Amino acid sequence: MILLPVIVLILLTQPLKSLGAEVKAYSRRTATNACTLVMCSPTENGLPGRDGRDGREGPRGEKGDPGLPGAIGRMGMPGPAGPVGLKGDNGSAGEPGPKGDTGPKGPPGPPGIPGPAGREGPSGIQGSIGPQGKPGPKGEAGPKGEVGAPGTQGSAGIRGPTGLKGERGSPGERGAPGNAGAAGPAGTMGPQGPPGARGPPGLKGDRGAPGDRGAKGESGLPDITALRRQVEALQTQLQSLQHAFSQYKKVVLFPNGQGVGEKIFKTGGFEKTFEDAQQICTQAGGQLASPRSAAENEALQQLVVTQNKAAFLSMNDIKTEGNFTYPTGESLVYSNWAPGEPNNNGGAENCVEIYTNGKWNDKSCSEQRLVICEF
Ligand SMILES: *[C@@H]1O[C@H](CO)[C@@H](O)[C@H](O)[C@H]1NC(C)=O
Ligand SMILES: *[C@@H]1O[C@H](CO)[C@@H](O)[C@H](O)[C@H]1NC(C)=O
Repeated sequence: MILLPVIVLILLTQPLKSLGAEVKAYSRRTATNACTLVMCSPTENGLPGRDGRDGREGPRGEKGDPGLPGAIGRMGMPGPAGPVGLKGDNGSAGEPGPKGDTGPKGPPGPPGIPGPAGREGPSGIQGSIGPQGKPGPKGEAGPKGEVGAPGTQGSAGIRGPTGLKGERGSPGERGAPGNAGAAGPAGTMGPQGPPGARGPPGLKGDRGAPGDRGAKGESGLPDITALRRQVEALQTQLQSLQHAFSQYKKVVLFPNGQGVGEKIFKTGGFEKTFEDAQQICTQAGGQLASPRSAAENEALQQLVVTQNKAAFLSMNDIKTEGNFTYPTGESLVYSNWAPGEPNNNGGAENCVEIYTNGKWNDKSCSEQRLVICEF
């Protein structure tokens, strides 16, 4: 494959005359089959000779260029299993399991405080008749009695004195002779007299016999088992109340809230003048932040840091310059003034702000500062 281009090159570059010599020289140099090359040369003088014998096989040629890559072979067998990999990360937490069975009943708790008196019980059976009582004290005089029945006619009175002698009358007609009169000095019965005056009340009567024994009263103490049941019900209620309370406390504090002791600070996240801020907190049922200890001041400071805004406190010296008090007029029980404060700068700093470093500064009340209320 190399020879052919060489020959073509020679044919193109050399005059035909010198071709024969060149071929011969080439034949000597390369020792190829001379016969083939001789036949190509032009005939010289004389007849052509016989064909020569076949020459010997030439030397092995140079190694050829690498061939084109063959077709992709079949996929090999899977290799042996690699080493065990590293343990993977923990999976996410599973769903909460089903609620467990009710646990065994706990030991009875300590006895509770006595409850209020129970409701009135049913009436008891009637008691037996009691012993006769002692005679009572003498009663008061009774009311005046009714007028009594007319009395019997009294006996005839004594004869009165003799009257004066009357004038002599004209003589009457002669009457018929009368019946014989009743005898006697006893005389006849008179007409009934008028009723007498009402008499004074009589003496108070004796005390009467005691009455029958009353119905049996209620027992003062309610049933102990009922009491225990009530206490257990209360304990359950208390537990669910405590649970709800702690849940609500978390909600209240997230976000913008801070609990410290019994106190909760909460910020609205906005800024207002002192007067507006004070009104907002009062209307919400609290008051502006009034830290009364280092612990409260630190809790408050956390809200100030989170909001990155200085906040108003409730304290001020509006009433008496230089005498800072709580809104109630009470003197401060704790303070955390920044160095050199309060200085009433410009003569018009009657309110107090708290910086993000927790320190206090007196400030004009008409400035706008972060609103933090306490409850
Ligand atoms: C994975 O769980 C194991 C115990 O099951 C525990 O010790 C380990 O801290 C957990 N790893 C992570 C990243 O949670
Ligand atoms: C500040 O005011 C309070 C009451 O408002 C009072 O008890 C206290 O004596 C006052 N202090 C000074 C230094 O004037």
